[in-house]
Amino acid sequence: MNIRILISNKIKQVLVAAGASTDCEAQVRPSAKSQYGDYQVNGVMALAKQHGWRPRALAEKVVGLLDLNGIACKINIADPGFINIFLEPHWLAQQLTEALASPRLGVTSAVPQTIVVDYSAPNIAKEMHVGHLRSTIIGDASVRTLTFLGHNVIRANHVGDWGTQFGMLIAYLEKVQKNSEADMQLSSIENFYRAAKHHYDEEPSFAERARSYVVKLQVGDEYCRRMWRHLVDLTMAKNQQTYDLLNVTLKRNDVMGESLYNAMLPGIVADLKAKGLAVESKGAIVVFLEEFKNKDGEPIGVVIQKKDSAYLYTTTDIACAKYRYETLKADRIIYYIDSRQHQHLMQAWTIVRKANYVPESVPIEHHMFGMMLGKDGKPFKTRAGGVIKLTELLDEALERARRIISVKNPTMEANELERIAQVIGIGAVKYADLSKNRTTDYIFNWDNMLSFEGNTAPYMQYAYTRIASILKRSYQDEQQLNGHIKLEAKQEIQLAVRLLQLEEAIVTVARHGTPHVLCAYLYDLAMLFSVFYETCPILNAQNDTLRQSRLQLALLTARILKQGLELLGIETVERM
Ligand code: ARG
Repeated sequence: MNIRILISNKIKQVLVAAGASTDCEAQVRPSAKSQYGDYQVNGVMALAKQHGWRPRALAEKVVGLLDLNGIACKINIADPGFINIFLEPHWLAQQLTEALASPRLGVTSAVPQTIVVDYSAPNIAKEMHVGHLRSTIIGDASVRTLTFLGHNVIRANHVGDWGTQFGMLIAYLEKVQKNSEADMQLSSIENFYRAAKHHYDEEPSFAERARSYVVKLQVGDEYCRRMWRHLVDLTMAKNQQTYDLLNVTLKRNDVMGESLYNAMLPGIVADLKAKGLAVESKGAIVVFLEEFKNKDGEPIGVVIQKKDSAYLYTTTDIACAKYRYETLKADRIIYYIDSRQHQHLMQAWTIVRKANYVPESVPIEHHMFGMMLGKDGKPFKTRAGGVIKLTELLDEALERARRIISVKNPTMEANELERIAQVIGIGAVKYADLSKNRTTDYIFNWDNMLSFEGNTAPYMQYAYTRIASILKRSYQDEQQLNGHIKLEAKQEIQLAVRLLQLEEAIVTVARHGTPHVLCAYLYDLAMLFSVFYETCPILNAQNDTLRQSRLQLALLTARILKQGLELLGIETVERM
């Protein structure tokens, strides 16, 4: 059920009948204040201005023609030409009953598309850091939401698994394997990388071997391929533990790293040359783009092959977009990458469009995000100024959550405590990130995110357990709740309208990749529920009809909270 679309369509029909063009915009929104009804129509003013009509007269005409019989119980006009719509409680009750009976909570499925989502994308032989956290969890929330709507989603983990550093990494892996009987554990990936680099810089014979391995790896030498694959496997096995702890849906099979496109690169360069897009410049192959100017006002040259014939990150991203359209048959391609890479992506995609690798009808979207900042407002770093490893951050989250839960429940068993600490600790870190508009930087703050008050994971998870406990105390099987939903109190109607806005929130997240919209919706829903619960007794309702009706409102609220949090990748527990 999408009330906004239902009303928009009706209003549009009427606007067209009143003389507006067929592409006019009704601009229907949920009302900001309850005295303005449940939905308001804002489009009349702009249209009146455009046609030179009086806004009030147009609004009156629209209301006169509008048929919302059975849907709205009152429609009025506010100056200069706002239309306020109050929904009919009986109709709302019917929609709620349908939502309760539906496994998808009344959300209509989308026309299915194949959507490729590029997210997480850590680098091989490097530790995941906090920058990868945002890509991973925002991307995963988007993937879950698109999947829920019925799309065919392809998760593409574009890991950094290619480049000249692999010569040195292979040479070092060989050395480590020779020296120790046991297989290398890569216990600290960061140390491994540093040690490899140290040998490369200090030992000429090692460096020479490393360089020869790069060449061999590129031509597909079996030994080097095997060693390279080992490095990828070790790193991704470690990252998989982080994904699992984070409740992120990525699996080993979702890895589509940079190396996948390597074989395509010579063909891409040759084709761009043949199309007259790429030219030779100072020994390198370059695409000059009029769309991007340097500070002297000249077109920017994007290098796609260096003088030493090496390819670049951009060349790979050109091939990658082409592959996603041609081979994966994407109808839409989305990238969750930090905002510092925006320019790079725009250049790559401008070339992709010019070369006709992906038609304009297939959107390629950069859903960028800002940085995580420390309390001082500067990029989030360790005390010593190093990057914060993701595993360390998550360990701290678990530790803090354990402390909070054990203070609240001194007698809780260790197993349960550990489980709840994980749900709350990880949930808190994720929710704190997801609940903020991704385009801006945000300040990482443990106390705020672990608070049981405000728009936080613990608050939302606790709100869910409270409703779950009401339902449990009703001693009634969910399936056996019977009788009609009856909406009388103002608080019941407000809760009902919000319950029916789930689809509006989900559709927005699917379109713009903005999970904070879903967080805001769920938070608002939880607050409306608590107002309703304070004023409208459920278990002690005056009579059984009312009790049954209110229990159904509680049940739908619980289901929506659980489902909504699940779309965000946040778990719930029945008690905490
Ligand atoms: N591995 C890169 C990094 O850590 C991110 C890759 C993003 N995806 C892409 N198609 N360029 O910064």
